[in-house]
Amino acid sequence: MKQISIFASGTGSNAKNIIEYFRNDPNTNINLIICNNENAGVLDIASQEDIPVILIKRSELESPSNLITILKNRKIDLIVLAGFLLKIPSVLTTTFPIINIHPALLPKYGGKGMYGKHVHQAVLENRDKVSGITIHHVNEVYDKGEILLQKEVEIENLETAQSLQEKIHKLEHHYYPLVIKEILEQM
Ligand code: GRF
Repeated sequence: MKQISIFASGTGSNAKNIIEYFRNDPNTNINLIICNNENAGVLDIASQEDIPVILIKRSELESPSNLITILKNRKIDLIVLAGFLLKIPSVLTTTFPIINIHPALLPKYGGKGMYGKHVHQAVLENRDKVSGITIHHVNEVYDKGEILLQKEVEIENLETAQSLQEKIHKLEHHYYPLVIKEILEQM
């Protein structure tokens, strides 16, 4: 059985979707949720789903020896970032396979400050004709790990940041579990 830890800071719609996707998968267990925001929606999801949560401070991620011990003790095979806003230190990226989902077509609209609606607003301000999602490995450079999958959406004339975010979320919910499954099958 492969063990996943989801790291999330926000609403948690991707976390919820991944949990639901793997609920009846005999080979995969959502073992632990790591969160750095005590008001995050993902905490409610974790409690409804009966999945253990550890709330961490930024300092505990920056000096992650305790966190690494916990993840190793729980035999985590893969860390899945799903809207996790803190930078992952290189000691963690070299200890565990980690993947992330980004709501744009990297390398465009990546890096510091590029999260949530900021991304979609920047895409619209530049009058791009397409946006999309990127699922990538996480290494020590923000949003620069190997790209595993990209999918595009068209931007329509009256597109707003809200409508674009909704389209992107649909794509994310469809593809993120599929990519996770594929990675786990190759392990
Ligand atoms: C997603 O759009 C994802 O691409 C980005 O953060 C957002 C998280 O959304 N990394 P949610 O909390 O899963 O709804």
